[in-house]
Amino acid sequence: MKLFVCSMCGYIEFNDAPDKCPVCGAPKTAFTEDANALKKPADPNNLSDLDKKHIPMFLVKKQCGLIPDGCVDVNIKVGEITHVMEAKHWILWIDLYHNYKYIGRHMFVPEKVNPAVGLHLKVNTGKITAIENCNIHGKWLGEAEL
Ligand SMILES: [Fe+2]
Repeated sequence: MKLFVCSMCGYIEFNDAPDKCPVCGAPKTAFTEDANALKKPADPNNLSDLDKKHIPMFLVKKQCGLIPDGCVDVNIKVGEITHVMEAKHWILWIDLYHNYKYIGRHMFVPEKVNPAVGLHLKVNTGKITAIENCNIHGKWLGEAEL
């Protein structure tokens, strides 16, 4: 799948550049295709600590405690070894997608919050993708089926 990166805010669109960036509103001309926009583990079958600190992890709950009618909770954290949130090294944001279509960005400040986000979905099938952006180690992707 092709990756198109917004030069203004770092948002990644799958397959084709959008007419307008859904995060910052930049025009299509601000996007460039970049096959290397996402970091990948050197060996997917033997993850390093760096991989484990950056690949988003998912917990899908079919029942929501907040919205009773068919809401699906998805909790996402960065990563299997929880990433630090320090002044010089932290997770800037997590972008979220349903079936590779953008559904939202969660932005973080260092030191006060953990690198985790909770989604309350109206859809109960399909694929959820999260791309997290570490200020030092770049963007990493994680996925889960609902
Ligand atoms: Fe990092």
